[in-house]
Amino acid sequence: MSHTDPLFSLAGKTALVTGGTNGIGAMIARGLVRRGVKTYISGRDAARTTAFAEALSAEGGTCIGLAAELSAEDGPAALAAQLSATETRLDLLVNNAGANGPGSLAAMSMADWDMVMNVNVRAAFFLTQQLLPLLKAAASEEDPARIINLGSIGGLHIPNWEAHAYNTSKAAIHHLTRSLCKALGPDRITVNAIAPGPFPSRLTDTDSDAVKKSVATYIPLGRPGSAQDVEGLVVFLASRAGAYVNGATIPLDGGYVAAL
Ligand SMILES: NC(=O)c1ccc[n+]([C@@H]2O[C@H](COP(=O)([O-])OP(=O)(O)OC[C@H]3O[C@@H](n4cnc5c(N)ncnc54)[C@H](OP(=O)(O)O)[C@@H]3O)[C@@H](O)[C@H]2O)c1
Repeated sequence: MSHTDPLFSLAGKTALVTGGTNGIGAMIARGLVRRGVKTYISGRDAARTTAFAEALSAEGGTCIGLAAELSAEDGPAALAAQLSATETRLDLLVNNAGANGPGSLAAMSMADWDMVMNVNVRAAFFLTQQLLPLLKAAASEEDPARIINLGSIGGLHIPNWEAHAYNTSKAAIHHLTRSLCKALGPDRITVNAIAPGPFPSRLTDTDSDAVKKSVATYIPLGRPGSAQDVEGLVVFLASRAGAYVNGATIPLDGGYVAAL
């Protein structure tokens, strides 16, 4: 795939990737920046987020860091306000920021539950709501604005470990994706979800024995996901190539869930 192929071109677009400082969000942000997308990333720590954005810009392109605590009630609106102060349109919103907590039925507190649901579901909904004016400004019949939500295979099946709030939050974001696709189609905004299997990140230590064993046992392709795997799907969904895909939750898992 050439960067200049118009079917897959993203040059000149503007994107926001929440949680673009680590793991899958950083993989997505790096891929967008090097394809000529003016890419905003958010993270909780301002200095760290700015430093990472500067590092991505130095690789060639434009990346801007914004600080946001997305578990807080006013977090999504505050992030949207920061972006709206400098941009009048937004072509792509990637609701990627995600968190897990103590997963067990016995040990989970209500605060743990709320934190997971607030970051993984509530923030994605209200950030979308707050950024609608910018997304609508970028949207057209030929080139819809795009929203990509990060779900998980944990929202498609029940894994062999306890993560009740996390798995529930991921099933919820998959359903929210369908709900918003119906609401926003008339505005020419597509909404899709990516449901990754194991990718190297802070959430998933793909070098640990447990994850290695699970990858070897359950993933037909026999390896965890890589930066190019998620970058490729995001480029597809965000470019002309993916403009008619709407309301889909796409497993990105080497066949894990299909083969269960
Ligand atoms: N990696 C996997 O195997 C896997 C599998 C399935 C689904 N996913 C999903 O993919 C997405 C990315 O996960 P990851 O594995 O890349 O995790 P990660 O390495 O832990 O990164 C999570 C990102 O979210 C941000 N974040 C976390 N809590 C936040 C909060 N309260 N407010 C604002 N930002 C917050 C973090 O930013 P700061 O730390 O800089 O604040 C970080 O950039 C998540 O939605 C996750 O559920 C991951």
